[in-house]
Amino acid sequence: MRLGVNIDHVATIRQARRAREPEPVTAAALAELAGADGITVHLRGDRRHIQDRDLRLLREVVSTRLNVEMAATDEMVAIAGDVKPGQVTLVPEYPDEVTTTGGLDVVQHQTAIAGVVGRLQAAGITVSLFIDPAPDQIVQARETGATAVELNTGPYADATPDGRTAELVRIRQAASQAHEDGLEVLGGHGLTYVNVKPVAAIPEIVELNIGHSIVARAVLVGLERAVREMVVLLG
Ligand code: PXP
Repeated sequence: MRLGVNIDHVATIRQARRAREPEPVTAAALAELAGADGITVHLRGDRRHIQDRDLRLLREVVSTRLNVEMAATDEMVAIAGDVKPGQVTLVPEYPDEVTTTGGLDVVQHQTAIAGVVGRLQAAGITVSLFIDPAPDQIVQARETGATAVELNTGPYADATPDGRTAELVRIRQAASQAHEDGLEVLGGHGLTYVNVKPVAAIPEIVELNIGHSIVARAVLVGLERAVREMVVLLG
């Protein structure tokens, strides 16, 4: 299982003071040294954490794979075409949300999303769609031409102990369906050192993107240790 470390909240700490530190690019290098298989950042329209400058520096320094989460807007497609990260993950984005809430609605917006996927792929970028683990979303995701999906594990992470098994089953079934459809299957959102193991055990999922929990632990024990401990859990 590959681990993509989302370092947005390193930038969140910096932006809290509009200061020069901590540098996301330094965090990326440390995470890679500790065993991360990829670095993920979300360039938000409001630039609340990661800045355009960070993207350019990360593109230079990341030696694994840089995965940039972004909304399917003309502004973001232009930036991706400039920076050319290894992968773009298209996510829904709302101005007042604290974090990404729910997957892209590919069923509703299939044509528009397919257009953006095509433009990114024409620039040589691999495209993944962040979707809820629902059969109709997977079917439509495949239709856009995207080659990968990231299944939203947020509802599993937020579920009560009683509801958690049902959410895990949804993710398992979705992973199996997406894999059969020829999509690369990733997962992420809300995963922690406590809840990650059952998701990491799903054989069709090849990569998990984890941010908040790793950066939160890193503040207390250091980034290298935090990443290494997650690598061990992913097996
Ligand atoms: N995957 C996607 C698409 C996300 O938007 C985020 C949050 O930026 C994550 C994974 C990581 O979520 P978390 O910070 O809860 O680990």
